[in-house]
This record gives sequence, structure tokens and C-alpha cells, in this order.
Amino acid sequence: MRSLVLLIIAIPLAAQAPGITPFKEAKARVLLRTQLPCLGCHELDGDGGRVAPSLTTVAERRNAAYIAAIIDDPQRVVPGAAMPKTPISGSTRELITQYLTRGAPLGTTPHPGQLPPSSARDVTASSLYNRWCAACHGQSGGGDGPNAKYLPVRPAIHNSTTQMSARSDDALFDAIAGGGAIMGKSPRMPAFGATLAPAEIRSLVAYIRTLCACRGPAWSTDGSKP
Ligand code: HEC
Ligand code: HEC
Repeated sequence: MRSLVLLIIAIPLAAQAPGITPFKEAKARVLLRTQLPCLGCHELDGDGGRVAPSLTTVAERRNAAYIAAIIDDPQRVVPGAAMPKTPISGSTRELITQYLTRGAPLGTTPHPGQLPPSSARDVTASSLYNRWCAACHGQSGGGDGPNAKYLPVRPAIHNSTTQMSARSDDALFDAIAGGGAIMGKSPRMPAFGATLAPAEIRSLVAYIRTLCACRGPAWSTDGSKP
């Protein structure tokens, strides 16, 4: 009789073991699907990009501390990795970490990070573009990088005169720095403002202008448009 009571108590506790409630789990799923840029690069349960390790299986390779750390500061954990820092609150980071490690036993052995050879920071606009943007936008800005087919919204076509001449330089800067979500565009366009310097973002705007061979609308160019 006593053991039956214990059994009845133990079952619901066991179901809670991974440490994330169904509500939090649902919230994390919605954030990942509709607001955060993570699935722009990562696959999760069959959805999302293919240019980064799968998040479906990440708990088999990384423990919670590693996952929280790489979300907080990717360049510190894996110097040179093509993962920009997404500005999110500590509580959102914790929620996503719990979600990604759900069901995993606590304290999975961390896999030693594979550090790519550290190279001097490359600052030419074309190399920045190839490194951070081309996987989605395509090397020549056609909106057709190898990762584009995994995205629900096609990446902007940077070599399209029609599309890009409708954008001011400031609008391009804001989209690169702040990401798609805050611009009312696809959230899978990541924010680079916490990873690239303002001068680097300005050089990317100028680079997009060479790809489209165009300028912003007349109202945005101080009347200096030819
Ligand atoms: C622009 C692409 C990009 C975006 C956006 C991105 N990541 Fe990453 N992420 C990467 C790459 C590339 C790596 C691989 C780093 C390495 O070489 O170990 C990575 C690694 C990781 C890892 C470690 C995976 C492993 O197996 O080692 C986690 C966890 C992770 N990212 C979570 C996230 C989360 C959560 C978000 C959203 C807040 C996010 N990433 C956004 C590109 C991206
Ligand atoms: C993970 C894929 C991905 C990466 C990496 C990425 N983008 Fe994007 N980007 C997108 C998507 C998708 C859109 C389209 C958003 C929309 O139209 O709703 C977009 C839109 C944009 C826009 C807005 C254009 C407009 O129509 O106003 C700019 C500017 C831009 N990206 C620049 C960049 C630059 C520069 C980089 C590299 C530093 C970059 N993107 C990296 C996916 C990506």
C-alpha cells in the first residue's frame, strides 16, 4: 500500500524531470519559430537552415553551460564561427537553453570545442559579405545562397537594382544591425549589430550598393543623386 502511494507520487515528478514545463516548452518553440534568427542557420525538428550544427541533436554533444555560453557570446566560445550574437534577455537565453537540452540528463560531458585557426580579422567588405551573408544571400547577392532554400522567406536580392534602389542606406544599415524581426521583415535575417562594428556594417551597405549598381531613393541621398 505504501509503495503504491509512492509510485503514484513518483510518476508525475518523473514526467517533470527535464525541468521545463509544457508552457515554457511551447513558449520556446514559438520564439524559435517566429521571432529569433536561430533557425535561419540551424535545423530544429526538420525546420530551418543547414549551415550550422543541428539543434535537434545538440544536447547529445553539448551541455547546458556550453549552450548558454555560445548563445551569450558565440565569438568567445568559438572564435571565428559564423554565428553572430543575438541580443536577447538572460531569461530568454535560459528558456532556449532549457528547451534545447530538454530530456537530456544533466551534466552531459561537454565536447571540446574545435577551434578554427585564429586568423587576423579580415575587414574588406567582400570578405565580410562572403563570410557572414553569402550562405543566405548568395555570393553575388542574388538571394540564392545554398541556405536560401531552407528559409520560409527568400533573402533580399542585393543585386537587384529595383529592390535595392527603393531602400535608403539607413534602412539597409538598420536591417543589418538590428535584424529582420525589428524591421518587420523575416526574423530569420539575423542581427549583426552586436558582432560587427558600425564601420563594418557601413562597408557592407556600400558593398550592397556595388552589387545592385544603384543608390538609395533621391530623398535619402542629400539631393546628390545624379
Ligand atoms: C548566421 C548563422 C547563425 C545564427 C543566426 C545562429 N547560429 Fe548558432 N551556430 C552557427 C554556427 C556556424 C555554429 C557552429 C560553431 C562551431 O563551429 O562550433 C553555431 C553553433 C551553435 C551552437 C553549438 C552547436 C554545437 O553542436 O556545437 C548552439 C547551441 C547554437 N549555435 C545556438 C544558436 C541559437 C540558440 C541561436 C539563436 C539565438 C543561434 N545559434 C543563431 C550559426 C548561427
Ligand atoms: C540566415 C540567413 C541570412 C543571413 C546569414 C543574412 N541574411 Fe540578410 N536577409 C535574410 C532574409 C530571409 C531576408 C529577407 C527578409 C524579408 O524580406 O522579410 C534578409 C534581408 C536582408 C536585408 C533587408 C533588405 C530589404 O529588403 O530592406 C538586408 C539589408 C540584409 N538582409 C543584409 C544582410 C547582410 C549584409 C548580411 C551579412 C552580414 C545578411 N543579410 C545575412 C537572411 C539572411
